[in-house]
Amino acid sequence: MALRLGDEAPNFDAVTTEGVVNFHEWIGSGWAVLFSHPKDYTPVCTTELGTVAKIKGEFDKRNCKVIAISVDAAESHHGWICDINETQGTQMNFPIIADPDRKVADLYDMIHPNADDTFTVRSVFVVGPDKKVKLTITYPASTGRNFLEILRVIDSLQLSAKHKVATPANWEDGQDCIISPAVKDEEVPTLFPKGMRKVKPYLRYTPQPNK
Ligand code: BEZ
Repeated sequence: MALRLGDEAPNFDAVTTEGVVNFHEWIGSGWAVLFSHPKDYTPVCTTELGTVAKIKGEFDKRNCKVIAISVDAAESHHGWICDINETQGTQMNFPIIADPDRKVADLYDMIHPNADDTFTVRSVFVVGPDKKVKLTITYPASTGRNFLEILRVIDSLQLSAKHKVATPANWEDGQDCIISPAVKDEEVPTLFPKGMRKVKPYLRYTPQPNK
């Protein structure tokens, strides 16, 4: 069955381009992004991996590790990394899981047979420090992902994990947040000392609490 938000992210041991990894141990006490690629030596994936390598510092700032997966062997990944470095003007700086027997792909339901019965779709899983799935996104093979959006979601997830807020449409780090409907008006001065802008009883904004 497909993984749902709040489910435990299945643990696994896998060979990666940076050695053997136990997923939960590798995550440690921080956050993690696991994202799948249909195949090595494919054009869109090449741009995606190069893009993530270039902005990996942004994931580090958020205490979030990144790990990719592709259903080819580690040897193939190593050759592909040379191409990624060459064509994308970067140096790969995070591991790619080798999954030739599709063990991890099956565990995370990354193969959608009605789209393609061999290659994985472009799945994204954000996993929290509690090893629970916080976000799932699925893109088709033909669409490269927007990794700035994934950073934006991590900002929102990390904020709502610490404060009783949600984030509105197109929210960006630093902008006003929405006070959780579970918070009573009388709790607002204590929980949100920066104040509240009440548009409707159910639509209450507050400046971002951790800024
Ligand atoms: C790509 O990464 O370019 C790709 C992979 C599989 C199908 C289509 C595109």
